[in-house]
This record gives sequence, C-alpha cells and structure tokens, in this order.
Amino acid sequence: MRFPNAFLDEIRDRVPISSVVGQRVTWDRKKTNTARGDWWANCPFHGEKSPSFHCEDKKGRYHCFGCGVSGDHFRFLTELDGMSFPEAVEKVAGMAGVPMPARDAEAEKRDRERTSLQDVMELAASFFEQQLQAAVGAKARAYLRDRGLSAATQQSFRLGYAPDSRNALKEFLAGKGVEKTQMEACGLLVFGDDVPVSYDRFRDRVMFPIPDSRGRIIAFGGRALSPDVPAKYLNSPETELFHKGNVLYNFARARKAVQKQGTVIAVEGYMDTIALAQAGFEHVVAPLGTALTENQLELLWRMAGEPVLCFDGDQAGLKAAWRAADMALPLIQPGRSVRFALLPDGQDPDDLVRSGGPDAFRAVLADARPLADLIWSRETAGGVFDTPERRAELEKTLRELAGRIRDESVRRHYGQEFRERTQAFFGAAHAGQRQRSGDDRRRPGPGPGGQWARGGAAQGRTPITESLSRSALLTKGNAAMPVREAAIMVALINHPRLIDEFFAQVEFLDLSNPELRALHSVLLDALAHDVAGDAASLIEAVDRAGRRDTWDRAVALVRRMRLWPALEEAAFEDAREAFAQALHLQLSAGSLHRELKAAEAALATDPTDENYRHLVAIQKEFRDVQAPEALVEGFGLLSGRGGRNF
Ligand code: UTP
Ligand code: MN
Repeated sequence: MRFPNAFLDEIRDRVPISSVVGQRVTWDRKKTNTARGDWWANCPFHGEKSPSFHCEDKKGRYHCFGCGVSGDHFRFLTELDGMSFPEAVEKVAGMAGVPMPARDAEAEKRDRERTSLQDVMELAASFFEQQLQAAVGAKARAYLRDRGLSAATQQSFRLGYAPDSRNALKEFLAGKGVEKTQMEACGLLVFGDDVPVSYDRFRDRVMFPIPDSRGRIIAFGGRALSPDVPAKYLNSPETELFHKGNVLYNFARARKAVQKQGTVIAVEGYMDTIALAQAGFEHVVAPLGTALTENQLELLWRMAGEPVLCFDGDQAGLKAAWRAADMALPLIQPGRSVRFALLPDGQDPDDLVRSGGPDAFRAVLADARPLADLIWSRETAGGVFDTPERRAELEKTLRELAGRIRDESVRRHYGQEFRERTQAFFGAAHAGQRQRSGDDRRRPGPGPGGQWARGGAAQGRTPITESLSRSALLTKGNAAMPVREAAIMVALINHPRLIDEFFAQVEFLDLSNPELRALHSVLLDALAHDVAGDAASLIEAVDRAGRRDTWDRAVALVRRMRLWPALEEAAFEDAREAFAQALHLQLSAGSLHRELKAAEAALATDPTDENYRHLVAIQKEFRDVQAPEALVEGFGLLSGRGGRNF
C-alpha cells in the first residue's frame, strides 16, 4: 500500500530516531550528548569496538562513519530488522500513537482481487528474472553461463536470481500492494510464531519457476550458488497452489513436444530437464525433489503409454529406479508400463549431454529396459543360489512381486516370464556357474546390464564372494535409528528455543533416517502453521501427524544411550551445548557420507573384491563418526563434565 507523505512525515517527526535505534544499540555514554539529541554507538550494521555510528534526532537520520550506512526510521527497521516497509511504518506509527490511515474499502477489495496468489507468484517470478539481469545477478549469470545454459534457454525457462537479502522480494511485493499474508500463503517467506520478523525464503539462489499444467507459476526451486550451503536446492513448501506430488517440472512444454517425439522422459533434476531441452530433447519432465509418485506416473501415462524413467548413474539413482519400479508395478496394464534408462558412471543427463552431446543421450534412451528386466536383475544379481532353499526363495520372491500387479492378464504374463527366466537361470547355474550372479543371460551382446545389478555378473570379473552378497549394500536397507539424529530431534522438540537459535541449520537439517526426517518436517510444518512453540504443543502436533511412535522410539533410544541433555528434564544450557556439538558432528558426517555413496556406486558398477574392501573401510570410518562414543565424548568435553556421566 502507498502511504501519504504527510502521514510519514508526521510519524517521523513525532518519534525521535534515537528511540527507534535505541532498541537495538547501547549508546556510548562518553560521546553521546542527550541534551542536543546527538547519539553515538557501536554500529549495529558492522562489527566494531569504538563507536562511529551517529544518530541525530534533529535531522531524524543516522549515519555510520565506519561503514557508511545511513537512513531514517524506516530504513533502519527494514535494513537491520528485515521488516517490510509497511511493517516499519506500522511500528513507528505505533510508537507515535498515530493510527494508520484508513484505506478506501473499495480500493482495498480491488487490490485483493488483483493480487491473487497466482499474480503474486507471477510478480515474484518477474522480480527474480529482473534481478538476474541486474548488477546483483552478475554472479548468478556467470554461474549459469559456466553450466552451459544459453541466454535463450535461460529466458525460455524464465530462470531468475533471488538476491542475498532478507527482504528484497518482500519489499518489492509490498511495493506492489501485496499483503504479507499473501506472500506467506505463496510460500515466499519464512514465518511463524518463532520468527519475529518474517523474511525471504529464497536468498542468494538461482531460481527455477515451476509452472503448472497451463504454464502458470505455482512454485519455485532455488539452487544455491556455493557448494557449502546446507541445501543445494530449496523448494517452495506446499501451498494452496502447489502440491509437489502432483506436479512435474516442465509438464506443459513437454506435453506439446510429446506428439512429435512419441514418448516422454522423466529425469531426476531441474538442471537435467533444462540441459536436455537445450540439447533438443523437449519431451522431458522431472519430479520435484521427491521420489516419483503415483500421481506423477498417471500424468506421464496421460502423455505416453511407456514413458522412459531415467536415473542418474550412481547408487542413489539405482535405488530410485528400484523404488519407482515398486511403485509402478501394481499399476501397470496392457499398453501401460514404464522403461528404465540408467546413465553411465555416476553421470546425470546434464553431465552426459554436455560431455557427449545429444547422441550420447540417445544411446542411453535406446538402451532403456523394460520393467520386468529391472525387477529380474534386482532380485537375481548378486544373489547366490547354490542350494534348493535359496532357489525356492527366489521363486517365492518373484511370485510375490508378480502377484502385486492388479491387472489380471499382465499379472499372468509376468508370472510366466519370471518362471521361464528362473528355469533358464538355474539351468545355467547348474552348468557350473553357481557363484556367478545373474544378469539376463538371454540378451545377446553387451548391454548396460551390469550396472543394473546389485552386483552385475559381467564376464571376466572377479566373482563376487558370499560375504559381498550379504553386505549391507545388497540387502534392502532397514537401518536402525541413528543415535545422533535421534538426539538432535529429541533435543529440538524438548527445547524449542534451540530451533530459534540454530534456525538456519535446523531448517536444512540433513537427516539420513526417513522416520526422523518425517519428524523433522512435522516440526517445521507445525512451526509454520502457528503451533505454539513449547514442547508440549510440539509433541501434540507430532501426535496429530501420526508420528507419535517415531517420537517415542527416539526418546527411548536417547534415554537408553543416556544422552540426558536432550531430554526434557535437562537444563536449557546443557541441552544447548550438547545440541551444538551433535549438530557439528552431524554436519561433518555429511562429507564422509558422500564418500560412502561414491564407494557404493563404484561397487555397484564394478563388483570386485577390491571395491568391496574399499567400501567396508569407508563404512567403518563412517560408523566411527556415527558411534555413540563420538557423541558422548563430545558432550563431555563441551559441558566440562565427565563425558561418561551422560
Ligand atoms: P540432483 O542432486 O541430481 O541435482 O537432484 P541436479 O538436478 O543434478 O542439480 P545440479 O546439476 O547439481 O545443479 C535432483 C533433484 O532433486 C531435488 C531437485 O529437484 C533436483 O533437481 N533436490 C536435490 C532437492 O530438492 N534438494 C536438494 O538439496 C537436492
Ligand atoms: Mn546435475
């Protein structure tokens, strides 16, 4: 909303600027002359030891001789406190005891209608686009250029840049008459009971607007420019406009291209989608940072009978492919299935088209394999079927899998296919290759098959050993709850002040355990939805979200490990120290975790004993950081008490 100048002048005149600034600084008694309205303090905008920040009531302005900032009441509140302009005005008006000007009811209504959430998103998208072209966008422009995206591609995907500011977007939207509640409803601000002043969610990120099926912007993905930011991508939260499980990135454009191409391809990331479009593959979509959902698969099937699901060539990609296979299996029908394409050697589609051009990606598509193949490879490769019991177990698993298919005739054909393959496979195994794991032997010629397997049986490689076939990698993971992660979540919920204090890290906390991850999002959701920020209310919210069981088990684990500082009866100061330490360990475990992933991927593509030993070594290192002792000792050191007391 626009404020009349006379009104702004009036409240500025009534409130000495020193009383606005004085809420945030301690005045220097020696230099300050209160009688003259001449105030000095250490500058709150930059760190300093002697006061060079000057504030003059007569002029109603402040100025720092150290860092050069200057401004009036409103500027101080918007720049230091991150308030929007209208919020600053409201605050100063409150201090002045002057009522806010009444707004014309008719104009108000028109405003509301004009700036529906959709319009707000459109405004935000154009703001980000404009920032990318402005001076602040230089770094982001260089980043996109380095990643090989042409200006035309950037424009057609409407890429943008969110500046490194807590209120740039908020200010911009406020200037266009957008209410704060609308910005919040659009998911553009971080807000909640525990956030004194709401602020821009996306800061210093390249922005990918996410259009709905009709091309209207309903969400954003933001990519960090520097690798040391906790979350590489940050996505809009669920809003009235955006339900991420029902949306595919680039759906509207891909749908047009599908007619010509005859199929549709789903890849994992935004960058992949865009890089492929630039390379001439316009029939490409991506889910939004989650595993493919049933709804998204339905969207794919609306475009093509046999979409190609394309996964990155690493262990995570392979696991994602398996998960997608399990999700799709019950839903397939005659003429309605999926094919799988897995990229080579740790690459994603963006890497591949950059290094090998469109032909390299075409080759990957040509190698895409049917669903039945993927499932067969998963269940047989890496297994050792040298006893009747083990062979029977495989048959049982395959029968069970085929049985999940809802369509009667497809189910029958899968049963038959698996039976035939099993017979051929056991025949081969009996012919003296018992130790060999089984990829699909009936496919002639070299294929990408090996990489699909839990441990492929490419000819000439060291046969995988019994121990490898039993390693954690090959069994479907059902990991126990990690102690540190449990302690972190328990401490956060029992001592919600920690959430405020460590908000930046807490918001992007990277937890490996799916249940604790769910608990974490319940916590953030609760805070975002005005649940009071005390432990009891948070636990109630956890209960409502159906996560009581996770919570109880986490608490039990923390008690069993005697990590008292995380529990509700601990003094806040103790909880705080222990928490800081646990958080630190959690972050450093992150880098080791990446190494572990790489080792897993190496083993999956090249299942030699050497790679297996390497993986085991890293697993051990990783377990050491994860070990309860590391956590417990950390607690002891920091709190200055004997670690063993915890
Ligand atoms: P990737 O890690 O494969 O990223 O995640 P990418 O698309 O290749 O991106 P670049 O090349 O590193 O820039 C795949 C997708 O998973 C989601 C995003 O949608 C991303 O495109 N994701 C990833 C997140 O939502 N958050 C993350 O922190 C990481
Ligand atoms: Mn990538």
